[in-house]
This record gives sequence, C-alpha cells and structure tokens, in this order.
Amino acid sequence: MTFRASLFTLALGVSALAACSPTADEPTEPAVEPVLEDADWTRNGLTDFEQRHAPLDQINTETVDRLGLAWMFQDFIVRGRVHRGNQGTPLVVDGVMYATGPWSVVYALDAATGKELWIYDPEVEGAWARKACCDVNNKGVAYQDGVLFLGVVDGYLDAVDAETGERLWRADTLTDRTRSYTVTGAPRVAGDVVVIGSGGGDMDARGYVSAYNVATGELAWRFFTVPGDPALGDEHPELTMARETWGEDARWDVGLGGTVYDSIVYDPETDTVFAGTSNGVPHPTWLRDPTFQGDNLFLSSILAIDAGTGRLKWHYQTTPADNWDFGSTQNMILADIEIGGDMRPVLMQAPKNGFFYVLDRNSGELLTAEPFTTVTWASHVDMETGRPVLNERLDYEDGPKVIWPSVSGGHNWQPMAFSPETGLVYIPVLEAPMKYVGYDGVEYQPGSLNEGKGPPLMPPFDEDDQGLLDGQPEPTVHSVLKAWDPVAQESVWESELQPWWSGGVLSTSGGLIFQGAPDGIFRVYDATTGDLLKQIDTGIAILAPPMTYAVDGVQYVAVLGGLGGSESAYFPDQAAAHRYQNPETLFVFKLDGGEVPLPPEAVEEVKQPLPDPVEISEAALGNGAELYYHHCARCHSYRGSPGAYPNLWNMTPAMHENFMAVLMDGQLSYAGMAPFSDVLSQEDADAIYGFLVSDRLTMAEEGDQQTGTRFQDID
Ligand code: HEC
Repeated sequence: MTFRASLFTLALGVSALAACSPTADEPTEPAVEPVLEDADWTRNGLTDFEQRHAPLDQINTETVDRLGLAWMFQDFIVRGRVHRGNQGTPLVVDGVMYATGPWSVVYALDAATGKELWIYDPEVEGAWARKACCDVNNKGVAYQDGVLFLGVVDGYLDAVDAETGERLWRADTLTDRTRSYTVTGAPRVAGDVVVIGSGGGDMDARGYVSAYNVATGELAWRFFTVPGDPALGDEHPELTMARETWGEDARWDVGLGGTVYDSIVYDPETDTVFAGTSNGVPHPTWLRDPTFQGDNLFLSSILAIDAGTGRLKWHYQTTPADNWDFGSTQNMILADIEIGGDMRPVLMQAPKNGFFYVLDRNSGELLTAEPFTTVTWASHVDMETGRPVLNERLDYEDGPKVIWPSVSGGHNWQPMAFSPETGLVYIPVLEAPMKYVGYDGVEYQPGSLNEGKGPPLMPPFDEDDQGLLDGQPEPTVHSVLKAWDPVAQESVWESELQPWWSGGVLSTSGGLIFQGAPDGIFRVYDATTGDLLKQIDTGIAILAPPMTYAVDGVQYVAVLGGLGGSESAYFPDQAAAHRYQNPETLFVFKLDGGEVPLPPEAVEEVKQPLPDPVEISEAALGNGAELYYHHCARCHSYRGSPGAYPNLWNMTPAMHENFMAVLMDGQLSYAGMAPFSDVLSQEDADAIYGFLVSDRLTMAEEGDQQTGTRFQDID
C-alpha cells in the first residue's frame, strides 16, 4: 500500500493545507495532487444531465502516470461455464459501491477497500437467457434516499434497501411473459416515479416504458412506443397518432419492437423523462409494414414524456422507416451550450445510424445533425424536414447491399461523455460496413430472433461481393475515440485506431478521458490534445464505462471488465479472451496503486473422440442445419469459432448421451441453456443432432480444421 502524498494531504486537511505555505526552512513535500472532499457517483451518468464528467482532478495529466491498481473484485456469481461479461456503471454513495454483474446481481462493496458488504441476487430464471438477444447483462442500478432500483433480466423491477440489501418491493414490469422481453438497462428515478423499459426488439417484443411509484412500487403510468393489435384498441392517445404511420397489415403479431432497452434520462427542471426507442421487428420496413411502409412511429425515436402524467411532450424520430436495425437507445446527454449565439438547453445523442443529433430538449426542435462516422445509407439530414435523405442506390429490398454503418451502428451502448470544460463530446465510435441481406417474408418464430434479414456479414467480404463495394469507402472494422465539437459538429481529435467494440467513456476535471477496450488495455487520453497518456494492460476486455469517486482524500477510478453481451458468441479478433481467461472483474485504480495481475492464460479445449455416425435423410439434414442456424448459432456459433459458449462440434461422449436431456428437458437450464421443447419437436431435435454429428464427421474428413473455443471453466 503506497498512500504517501494522499495521506499527507489528508492528515493536513483542506483548510490546513490552504493556510500552510512552506517557508525555505521547512521541509517541503514534492508537488502533491489536489486534496479531495469525498465525492459520490449517484446516477448512472453521475448527474441528471448524464454527462459522465466528474469534477475530480487528483488524477490529472501530470499525475496519471502513477495510476495503478487499488483493489479488484472477482467474486461474481457465475452460472455454469459461461462468463457473460460486464456492461454496468457502478454507483458510489457514502463510501459504498453498488456494482451490478451478470444475472442482475448487485454487489455492495466498501468503496475504499473492496470488502464485500452484501450481495443481492434476484435469482432469475436461468431459462430466461434464451429471451435475451444479447446476453444476461446489466447496466447498473438507480439510487435515491437509501433505496436502490434494479432492473432484473426476467422482467422485474426490484427496490432494495441500500444498507442491508433486503428487497423492499418488486414489480412485474412485463405485459406478456410469453414474449421475449428482458430488462438489462438502468432504471431512472424521475421525481416520485422510477422508470424502466425492456429489450426484445429483435425477438418479438412490443416496446414500452413503465413508471412506478418509488415508495410503493405501484404502476403510475405506461407509455407504449408502438401500436398494438388494432382489434384491441389504443391504450393511450399518442398511439392513435402513431397508428397513422403504420399500415393495416403491419406485423402486430411479431410485436413491432421499439423497445427502450437503455438510455432513460430525467430533467427535473421540466419534469421530463427522455426515453430512446430501438429498431423495429422485423428489421426491414417492407416486412414489418408490407403495404404501407410508413414512418412507423415511435421506432428509432427520442421521446420526451411528462414524468407526472406519462403524456408525450414531443418526439423526434432519428430513423423513420428504419430498415437497418439502427434504433435510438444510445446514451443521451443533456447540456446547456451556445448555438448560433444563444445558450440552448440541448439533448445530444449519437445513435447507431451514424448522425450526431443536437436537439432543443424543451421543444424537441432539431438544431443540428451531422455524421460522426462513415455513413452511406443516407446522404445527410435535411434541416427543413428534420429527416434523413436516403441513398436510394443502397436500398437492399432490391438485393444485397454493402452499407455503412453496420447493424452494430456507428455508436452502440458503450456510453459517450461530455466535458463542459472542453466543450467536447467523447464518442466511442465504430467504423464498419455490413452486407445487408433482406428475406422475402417472415414467419413469426416465437422465442427466437425475428429480424427478417440475414446474419451480420462484416468485412472481409467474399470475392463475389466485390461489385457491391463500387463507389464505397474501403471496408474496415475498427473503433476510434472521437473528441467531437457538438457546436461546430466536427471532430477535434481522434485516437489511434482501436480494436472493434471499444468501451464506454469517462471524462474528468483532471483533463483526462478514460476508456477500456476488448484488448484488455485501459487507456487514458489527454482530453484536449488526444495524447495517449497511460495504458494499463489488464488482460480482460473492458467494455463498460469507467466512473470515479473520492473517499478519504483519495480519488479512485472504477471500471467493470469482462467480455460478453452481443460479442459472446464470437469474440472480436483482438479480444484479450483469445489469450487469457475471461472472468468478470471489477478494477479500481488510484495513484500509486499496484500492478494489475494478469488472468490465467486461455486453455485450448481438449479434443473429444469423434461421435458415431447417425442415420439421417438428406431432407432431415437440411432441416437440422436450418434449425441450428435459426435457434442455436446466435449462442453456439459455428464449428467451434472462438466464443464463450460450448462448442457443439466437440462434445464429450457424456454430452452426446445427454444431448436430448439438455436440449429438450432443460438439464442445464439454471446455467442459461433453456429447454427448447416449446419450439422444437422431437423430430426437429433429432435433425439438429444429426446435423451436428454429420458436420463434425465432415470436418474430420476435410482435415479437421477445428479452431476450438478458448472456453474454459476457471473455478
Ligand atoms: C441464448 C443462448 C443459447 C442458445 C440460443 C442455445 N444455447 Fe445451448 N447452451 C447455452 C449455454 C449457456 C450452455 C452452457 C451451460 C453450462 O454452462 O453448462 C449451453 C450448452 C449446450 C449444450 C451442452 C454442450 C456441452 O458440450 O456441454 C448443448 C448440447 C446445447 N447447448 C445445445 C443447444 C442447441 C441444440 C441449441 C439450439 C436449438 C442451443 N443449445 C441454443 C446457451 C444457448
């Protein structure tokens, strides 16, 4: 433990230090970092404005070189063999940290030492993992007056006593538990209510946000983001307006999407809740709304809702008639900035579609919108109409097209930050195109993805696709941190190219920008110049946004590590998980901290004996392959490509024996492998098994280029 300078300043206290100017005779200490009052982090993005900028400067451009590990925590609840990674922002209140991990578990830790105080495990149903498009992650809790609010993946909103970890109340937020709804976002306290949405917009969910009384957990209001079955009537007046933008044969049966799975912000000045809605389902409008193909409100929109009444104040749709899975759920930041000579109360968002939007948050007026990444689906946003101007040449209803950005977007859930000191927004930008392939039609598949388009085809593209690249930028797949001037709508500096899927961002008054990445490197940049000032190799992918706080005069920076989420099935190329094991880990750094111990190395899986061939007809084989791609590939990937889930091309003899017990009876349900007997017949299950065994034997004949996952239980 090397406390040195901080202990010295702490012992003197703030006022003593201010009054004490050392004379020539007195021993002088080397330059010390500024003294700190205790500082909490009580909201997901620190304050109501969600800027993720902290006024702490003990760690600054001069001292950051001394940054090291204060403590780390790895005692996360892991079910079975699959590590799920982390996405949350911990909170710190009165020296206690509240971090969330996979399966919606809350960990209360002493913020100075990491000592565990209590764990709240809502014990979610393991089979619910199948309903998650993108894993059983959690983005953090909300806090108010001694109570934590937790969104639980199987659809509940829990109020938990912050001191004891006891549950105070629980609300079931789901309107239909047979549908694939999941809750992974952070709830938001808005006056007397706490607001939460859900995920499921790639599966079969109908989006909505619900508000519950903070004291009792009673439902105060619910705002649906898309109309439901017309035969049942509209639940509230805004839906009657939204219905005008949908045709009569829209796919109500599939739910239509528009889920509020992430950013919800509250402006106490105007008592307004801002909620961002997702893409629609199916993804292409021509499948979702076949004859009318309207704007499809309120998909891919920012909604301003009165917190008291639940009525809509205004809405802005970033991607009308979204065909690309863009959505507008990315983190929204409120600020007061000068635009055209006037101070304006703004809301800023960099949604997946690649344009950076600045809106007047009181009126919803679009002030500016410019691309912050490579964008080809639209040429620009028309400021008269506020609508994107589409690039008709890239309409993929006519056939496959290569389009920028990809379904991963120009910016995804990893939060950006805004520094009121530099006036810049720090965006973790994604740069990649995708080959979009639409289906001809969609048959509703309960309990599965209903996207209506092919799997995400990223570079490198096949030889056959080279023609699709004509007139397009050179394909690439990378991340880059951009310091974006929201007034001039231009980039001020850009980091070196980073590995795909870089992490969320923290800005501080120390003039620093903190960010992790899948390669396991925690990076610190100079907020003004973009110089890379410090790199710490943790050996574990860091996607979650860092946060910072101060206890007893020491500034800490905390960040949750672990690769998972949408990247679980296929780890990105430069991911640390190719080299090391991937345990969920909370890192906490401070000045003069220690070295980060690297995790154990990844272990190549043991190659299992070849299975006995099975009798299977050509037709059943084809059916098995199709069913596998439809129901299993999103987790188990293909032929053992490197990812977190078991490699079904390398099962043990015992697992071959147990295959049907796992697949149909739910033998591994607790660990997140749900039984599929509700969607597969025994004949289907036999066909999948036949396909897996035959393909494994084909691979062996081809020379067995089995990559082998690095999947390894570390317990
Ligand atoms: C939502 C993700 C998900 C989907 C979709 C999924 N699985 Fe799984 N599966 C898992 C997880 C997680 C495990 C490992 C559980 C554990 O830790 O024991 C698993 C394990 C298995 C195992 C045990 C393998 C072994 O060697 O231990 C089999 C067999 C299996 N799955 C088959 C299937 C089949 C067939 C499908 C498609 C019909 C499917 N799974 C779809 C998540 C999934």
